[in-house]
Amino acid sequence: MNILHIDSSILGDASASRSLTRDIVATLVRNRPDAVLAYRDLGASVSGHFDAAMLAARSTPPELRTAEAQALAGHAETVMAEFLAADTIVIGAPMYNFGLPSQLKTWIDLITVAGQTFRYTESGPQGLAGNKRVIIAATAGGKHAGQPGGAAHVDYLKYLLGFLGIKDIEVVTAEGLAIGPEQREAALAAARETLEAVAA
Ligand SMILES: Cc1cc2nc3c(=O)[nH]c(=O)nc-3n(C[C@H](O)[C@H](O)[C@H](O)COP(=O)(O)O)c2cc1C
Repeated sequence: MNILHIDSSILGDASASRSLTRDIVATLVRNRPDAVLAYRDLGASVSGHFDAAMLAARSTPPELRTAEAQALAGHAETVMAEFLAADTIVIGAPMYNFGLPSQLKTWIDLITVAGQTFRYTESGPQGLAGNKRVIIAATAGGKHAGQPGGAAHVDYLKYLLGFLGIKDIEVVTAEGLAIGPEQREAALAAARETLEAVAA
């Protein structure tokens, strides 16, 4: 089993989602000691932002790329290869300004490629990246369940992964983390209880 572990929090050691993804991966590995791990820390840098230079680099044949374009396209190919090789993906997904961290959106931009992970057919879009399991560690400072905005960041992530063909998606949630220390501890403890079952 290949596990891809992705963190996107910018809060370093203080990050709730980082501690949850760490525990989820540890539980997965305890159950499958032969698992091969890959780790990508998106919070550490924003390299490979999906901008005009990245689009041009990806669209240019390798033999015509400048050194800079080759580096950009190479980064995109590495991110895609990691995604395609993974059987199980663990994603740390904090809510920042009601959405995902922009670094995680950039990763999504690099794995959502027509002809590789989805295609349009006469009968509508078809995901090409099925047969993967995804566990999302979703965190938020406020409480969003039942509110008009809801957990929009997680809903978007689930929708996007479904578009790519991934149906086996589970979410471990810890919200209300910024309300106070007691609420934070309680939310993290509840999330840790559920993650044992989810990652079993
Ligand atoms: C830049 C930034 C924006 C945030 N925006 C929101 C928000 O829109 N709604 C919310 O409930 N919490 C928000 N928070 C609080 C985070 O969701 C909370 O700190 C959570 O623990 C983040 O997960 P992390 O600790 O893994 O980074 C924000 C935090 C940061 C740093």
